[in-house]
Amino acid sequence: MNNEKLIQKFDKQAKVYEMRRRKQSEKKWREKLIRSARGTVLEVGVGAGANFQFYSQDVEVTAVDFSKEMLSKAEEAVVESGVRAKFIHSDIESLSFPDDAFDTVVSTLTLCGYQDQGIDVIQ
Ligand SMILES: C[S@@+](CC[C@H](N)C(=O)[O-])C[C@H]1O[C@@H](n2cnc3c(N)ncnc32)[C@H](O)[C@@H]1O
Repeated sequence: MNNEKLIQKFDKQAKVYEMRRRKQSEKKWREKLIRSARGTVLEVGVGAGANFQFYSQDVEVTAVDFSKEMLSKAEEAVVESGVRAKFIHSDIESLSFPDDAFDTVVSTLTLCGYQDQGIDVIQ
């Protein structure tokens, strides 16, 4: 599927992902995974922000998504969580960051969306 089609698909699904976030049906594994995030965090494909409620208050998140509808839900979620975050509306594959820009990279339920899944920032 090309990016335009994927973006349209995710834009349409934003309300569903928001409902899933509110229901906390995936709380068990999200809590376990996200509590290990430290320092400066890059979250790729942030969606409706389902992970925000599980970050510790001392992280700083840079959250990327190419769906505007998802990002607007994530912006609501971050206010509720009190976590410090900034948002980037972009295809993650067209971004680059300096080496060592992040202490932690988080990607949950996103790998199926990337053309190139070989993420070379993870060591
Ligand atoms: C299945 S949702 C998962 C959302 C969230 N990570 C979660 O755990 O609920 C996938 C998200 O990744 C985003 N996404 C997929 N491919 C992307 C890409 N190449 N660049 C930026 N965002 C992308 C989609 O817009 C969507 O919000």
